[in-house]
Amino acid sequence: MAKIGVPGGTPSERESPAVSVAGSAVPRHVAIIMDGNGRWAKAHGLPRFEGHRRGVEAVRRTVSAARDLGIEAVTIYSFSSENWSRPLAEVSELMGLLKRFIRSDLRDLHANNVRVRIIGEGHPGDSEIETMLRETEVITRGNTGLRLTVAFNYGSRNEIARAVQGLARDVAQGRLTPDDITPERIAERLDTAELPPLDLVIRTSGEQRLSNFLLWQAAYAELVFLPVHWPDFDRAWFEKALSEYSRRERRFGGIEPDGC
Ligand code: IPE
Ligand code: IPE
Ligand code: MG
Repeated sequence: MAKIGVPGGTPSERESPAVSVAGSAVPRHVAIIMDGNGRWAKAHGLPRFEGHRRGVEAVRRTVSAARDLGIEAVTIYSFSSENWSRPLAEVSELMGLLKRFIRSDLRDLHANNVRVRIIGEGHPGDSEIETMLRETEVITRGNTGLRLTVAFNYGSRNEIARAVQGLARDVAQGRLTPDDITPERIAERLDTAELPPLDLVIRTSGEQRLSNFLLWQAAYAELVFLPVHWPDFDRAWFEKALSEYSRRERRFGGIEPDGC
């Protein structure tokens, strides 16, 4: 029988609420849906591409702030599996920006002890991007600072389907039985398996949806939606989101120890 007052969630999720920095709870793992580049550009009378270009600067600010704030892991949504449906010219611009970002920033990220990982399905049709992504991971593999995960050609439903396909193969080959397919085993096969449990999802631009991002991992994450377009996101906005997070009461399905 379930014990009333014992919080639910997996043990690692319950351990997750993090250390205290400057007197407030700091999340271990923050995921960011970097949205609003196009609207930012439109509001400034500029082409959408300029919004994406300015968005890269916001990524740099975010990485630097996360390191200062003592956050262990940041996962950023850079391109969704649905973003292929955008006009070809915009998709090409986004791919070009990714390549330029790796070329210009990899050295700095590495020097700052950032460990970069790519999740999602990569770009099987573009061997140059594939090579750059894999090299980025290899070069920074031994780093012990901020864990920066870039979700690229990522879709959560695909990720879960890939995980379950792997388990189904194990069942078909007799290595597992159907009863072995537990939430823990699925989580172990997700792209995020090595990362700490997700504590906080931030989405900029005012939209309030997950858009196929970390659906499984966000089961008990706090969600913070900010009324700022991504190119204007800075340390002050990051701190605002963290301060909102620190006021949230995470229950994981249980109740507070005092029963209120
Ligand atoms: C986010 O900004 C960047 C990507 C999705 C790649 P958008 O391009 O979605 O900007 P809006 O939502 O149109 O303003
Ligand atoms: C989500 O933003 C994807 C990224 C930020 C990379 P979108 O702009 O693609 O999401 P929707 O279409 O508004 O849901
Ligand atoms: Mg958008």
